[in-house]
Amino acid sequence: MVIFGASGDLTTRKLLPALYNLRRSKLLPEDFAILGVAVDQMSEDDFRNKVRHDIREYAGAPQDCTQCDWLAERVYYMTGDFRDNATYTHLKDLLAELDQKHSTKGNYLYYLATAPAFFGEIPSRLGANGLTSEADGHWRRVVIEKPFGSDLDSARALNRDLGKSLTEKQIYRIDHYLGKETVQNILVFRFSNGIFEPVWNRRYIDHVEVTVAEELGVERRGGYYDHAGALRDMIPNHILQLVTLTAMEPPISFQADAVRDEQSKILHAIQIMPPEEVLTRAVRGQYGPGTIDGKPEPGYREEPLVNPQSNTETFVALKLSIDNWRWADVPFYVRTGKRMAKRVTEIAIQFRRAPFVLFRDTPVERLMPNLLVLHIQPDEGISLRFGAKIPGPIVRVGSVNMDFEYVDYFGSQPSTGYERLLYDCMVGDATLFQRADMVEAGWSVVGPVQDVWRALPARSFPNYDSGSWGPKEADDLMKRDGRAWRKID
Ligand code: BG6
Repeated sequence: MVIFGASGDLTTRKLLPALYNLRRSKLLPEDFAILGVAVDQMSEDDFRNKVRHDIREYAGAPQDCTQCDWLAERVYYMTGDFRDNATYTHLKDLLAELDQKHSTKGNYLYYLATAPAFFGEIPSRLGANGLTSEADGHWRRVVIEKPFGSDLDSARALNRDLGKSLTEKQIYRIDHYLGKETVQNILVFRFSNGIFEPVWNRRYIDHVEVTVAEELGVERRGGYYDHAGALRDMIPNHILQLVTLTAMEPPISFQADAVRDEQSKILHAIQIMPPEEVLTRAVRGQYGPGTIDGKPEPGYREEPLVNPQSNTETFVALKLSIDNWRWADVPFYVRTGKRMAKRVTEIAIQFRRAPFVLFRDTPVERLMPNLLVLHIQPDEGISLRFGAKIPGPIVRVGSVNMDFEYVDYFGSQPSTGYERLLYDCMVGDATLFQRADMVEAGWSVVGPVQDVWRALPARSFPNYDSGSWGPKEADDLMKRDGRAWRKID
């Protein structure tokens, strides 16, 4: 495994700890080596020490020195400028040596944990140096992090560039949301249980809400974030993944393309907003100062590396429509934001109300509709709300919850969320990775919103307090349809 950007944050916090966890789970082969490449001057010993340090800090598991040593013995480092061809000739020689030493048979997984500016260049230079060719029966794969482009045109251009040195099967576009157990569980929940699928459609479901709320602000990423904003950062990737898994038809198998074909159909069925509807179906917000957990927090414009007059959005809410038979007229409301009241990711499926009420003392509008919530993080689980009789001589209906919490049944496993994804790239299972057409369809969905927002800069920023649930306009978005966001405690 060759990690480009080996001295960066992603390698430190996720990749090295995840590799260690894979080893602990006996999922790394004996014939394995890691080669870190970065522009920083570092000796191989320094890099090995860093590996030990990162594992200690971020693997989330008690240290097993034997496994840590095992990994450290297989770690190599080379300094190199990604734009300099000499880096790739040196890399080629080094890989040939490592093939001999570790019997890695010419199978290379390249992980681009770099700035997006290198996503096109590195594969092209690898290709030019014969490092992507699978001609001799070995495999060569490239993992690309997000952001994959910054709009439809740039994503298309990147796909085209990658296609010059790689086949689609060699490209693994990663979305770390698909590494989360509970996200993978959406498919198992839907397709391994007989009772939900018959009601999973417009006849029974009123609407769906997807919330990805973070307490954190932009931390040290102001430089990137101020150019990206919440729409690009979260919607075409993570949020649309959650939408597709919730909305897709049952695939004919769990083969990579069978699953991805169904996801792709949903992405193509999401109605592209006409520009004149963007202002009513898309809401943007930016956080001002506020308090979270009793602690005062600065506004976005006061964050490091952020332009003090910035008009970048840190909150987005959208009303999406999926134009197919299953979902016609069932809105999918999605929202995501930074510095919100609570860190929570969930998908709430609200069913239609009972059609008429048999209980004289309860008007039908007071009956709470059934609600199924898939809790993705931090408290992973599933809950179902239904009506039950409140004890007493008068028949009154109250709401109760049936709760399943992962941790009660399965305990908690130390995980960075990257283990499964890294494993899948190594065994060549692309199910949880984005195909070119999916990425492009995702950008097509957000394109009109990008265009309208660019043309009409926000005038009311900041428009929500840190520690709140976002701007008032997001509530209005649902209120106009006679609905309200689910209250999350
Ligand atoms: C990243 C975004 O892709 O996902 C970040 O760039 C965001 O801005 C993060 O904070 C959220 O991931 P998670 O796993 O913490 O929900």
